[in-house]
Amino acid sequence: MFSRDIGIDLGTANTLVYMKDKGIVMREPSVVAVDTETEAVLAVGTEAKEMLGRTPGSITAVRPLKEGVISDIDMTTAMLNQFMKKVIRNFLLTRPRAVVCIPSGCTDVERRAMDEAIQNAGARQAEIMEEPMAAAMGAGLPVKEPVGSMIVDIGGGTSEVAVIALNDIVTACSVRVAGDAFDEAIMQYVRKQYHLLIGSSTAEEIKIKIGSVFPYEREESMHIRGRALGSGLPNEITISAKEVRETLQEPLSVIVEAIRTTLEKTPPEISADLLDSGMILTGGGALLRGIDRLLAKETGMTVHIAAYPMDCVANGAGKRLEQLYPSRKKTAKVREKGKH
Ligand SMILES: Nc1ncnc2c1ncn2[C@@H]1O[C@H](COP(=O)(O)OP(=O)(O)OP(=O)(O)O)[C@@H](O)[C@H]1O
Ligand SMILES: [Mg+2]
Repeated sequence: MFSRDIGIDLGTANTLVYMKDKGIVMREPSVVAVDTETEAVLAVGTEAKEMLGRTPGSITAVRPLKEGVISDIDMTTAMLNQFMKKVIRNFLLTRPRAVVCIPSGCTDVERRAMDEAIQNAGARQAEIMEEPMAAAMGAGLPVKEPVGSMIVDIGGGTSEVAVIALNDIVTACSVRVAGDAFDEAIMQYVRKQYHLLIGSSTAEEIKIKIGSVFPYEREESMHIRGRALGSGLPNEITISAKEVRETLQEPLSVIVEAIRTTLEKTPPEISADLLDSGMILTGGGALLRGIDRLLAKETGMTVHIAAYPMDCVANGAGKRLEQLYPSRKKTAKVREKGKH
């Protein structure tokens, strides 16, 4: 039976699907909205994200993954099922084989939960791949070579740091501090400083619009709205880029520490390689203004931001798909070459 093999980057913030021979065919927020009474899925992805924090009692919109792992297995399964139906025609007839990425710090239980969710969502077979390896492959690092490469993937729920050589992870560190922790820090600051409650979507918007690690040209302030703590009434305040920057220092220091720990555990020969190759940043967190400069300053290494940092993990899963289940066209070509 004709089958579509897919690679899935099931992230805390976004889910990407890679389809063999096509590339990335879907990018959607990892959010699902369900009817509270009937448990029917009402919306997934972007449509469901718009409902986050805005639902009446009869609907719940949730992010079924937290800190890189499944926190609600039924919701994750329902979301994945909808996503697969979206990208695969005749999904029920052509159950795909899937490569799925999980954070490197996952426990066996978390790994099994992921496997179960994918299979229950309708995949015929699931191959689990560690996220930093996928990110490194997707960013085009020479993972097979006997020289060390370093990858830092800052996503929504986890920051993954890994040194890779000879197709394997030499040392790694995964911390559950990434984009969501930045948003959380902003929410807490606004609550403490201005006695204003804001939602996570507003906090994320602030981070993306004016967030930074170092001062930058033409810094702007932002008007934000929420609910006043004391009166309970709607209110508006103004927050500056400088305030946001100071707020982000603490979660950033956790990521810096994870990188230092990984470097300290790296064998000396490989450390020497890293002086030449530097580190590559992937994940949405790589887009925070100045994060590359901070990491360069803290480690003395060269820091590169991957092209399309948010696509790397999905592209890496795609490369693994090609290795596991080579396209017919390619197999034919190899056979032809062999004849001559
Ligand atoms: N321009 C930007 N500046 C700062 N942060 C950004 C920017 N664009 C996206 N982000 C953040 O990147 C995060 C999402 O990145 P990504 O899609 O790589 O995460 P994920 O793969 O879903 O999460 P994880 O790998 O932890 O499970 C979100 O927290 C988002 O707010
Ligand atoms: Mg990710």
